[in-house]
Amino acid sequence: MTQDHSAPDLSEQARDILRRNDRGGYTVPTRGLYPYQWNWDSAFVALGFAAFDRNRAWQEIETLVSGQWDDGMIPHIIFHQDDPGYFPGPSVWATGKTPPTSGITQPPVLASIVRRLWEDEGADPQHPRMAALYEACLKSHRWFHTYRDPLGNGLVMVTHNWETGRDNSSEWDDALARIDTSQVGSYQRRDTGHVDAAMRPTAVEYDRYVAILQFGRASGWNHRTIADHGPFRMLDVGMSMELLRANRDLLVLAKARGDSAVVEELEARIALSESGMDYLWDEAVGAYCSRDVITGKSSGLVTNASFLAFYAGVGTSHQRLRLLDGLNRLTRSATYLLPSLEKGSRAYDHKRYWRGPIWLVVSYMVAEGLREAGHLEWADRIRTDSAKLIEVSGFYESFSPETGAGSGGPDFSWTAAMWLAWCGR
Ligand code: DGY
Repeated sequence: MTQDHSAPDLSEQARDILRRNDRGGYTVPTRGLYPYQWNWDSAFVALGFAAFDRNRAWQEIETLVSGQWDDGMIPHIIFHQDDPGYFPGPSVWATGKTPPTSGITQPPVLASIVRRLWEDEGADPQHPRMAALYEACLKSHRWFHTYRDPLGNGLVMVTHNWETGRDNSSEWDDALARIDTSQVGSYQRRDTGHVDAAMRPTAVEYDRYVAILQFGRASGWNHRTIADHGPFRMLDVGMSMELLRANRDLLVLAKARGDSAVVEELEARIALSESGMDYLWDEAVGAYCSRDVITGKSSGLVTNASFLAFYAGVGTSHQRLRLLDGLNRLTRSATYLLPSLEKGSRAYDHKRYWRGPIWLVVSYMVAEGLREAGHLEWADRIRTDSAKLIEVSGFYESFSPETGAGSGGPDFSWTAAMWLAWCGR
């Protein structure tokens, strides 16, 4: 049912959601379904806090990096306080870290957010909070360069679909279908106790997610073993674009700090990723798609992540024109932009997790990229559609591109943050 959300109220509601999801120095994505601190959620949430509490914005990220591993990885979940309402919790991951964390990472958007916070405060090269986070981001990017670039072409390999943040995208279906689940054993899912099962991954899919987790745990969370022998190894188009962008943003910080060795290091990485990105271009569909490291096969699917090319600053004029054709096509099958999967693609479902619904954080990055590339009408279309979704349905985790109805968790932190930092402004 359509709710009454007048524009000024929405900003107050958004601030209220962030305050209510605040657990003291960090924010849960939504109560119940996601009761811990998630990596890329917190990065975007910091942008929302920045609109009304600068100190709290920095603190969100500082609390997140308190869980960074010695090898540089920033985990995808930090389990600050145990919560029996979530599976898989800290005892399932068994990483042995303090604070307890998962053993995998998530999209590296942090440096881009730190740059934005820092620039909004005047871009002082001596900014003390930027300085510490610069070091954390650099360490995390080096972790990606060391462990997650198997072909040496600057792209990002993921070893669990949860790392992508686009957990249930059909881009992973073929690779997940090869996972042996015979030893998984029994476990109790908690997510379907919080939201409609029709919006969540199926039982077969969940078994595969757990099997990949168990491989990591059995390796003692040895990131070299996982990278070389893990059962799931995909070059993720989303994270490849996001890391390239984050390296560009980190480079701005490195230059401001006069860190010339790092400037040189990052410039080389950026050049490598710029040329490597072509490996993800799929001419048959006219888009960048994820590719399986083990089989070499492209997913051949146009997703919202395909359009992050503008955010990453890649693509020839031919490739960019084809991507814009893709956006045009989407306007014919979707009432609202930007769906996570094109209607008509196999496994499209406008309500199911990452198989059609809109996630505003991806829409934000795509719109920013389009704006920077001069495609202002497209950027504005995505921004105003995003605002309409919140006006029509409230602050849901995701939204149907067909009806605009909310899906997943309600009162979602990063949706509130996107209103405050972007589409509601
Ligand atoms: C979940 O539990 O579905 C999370 O998205 C994993 O990060």
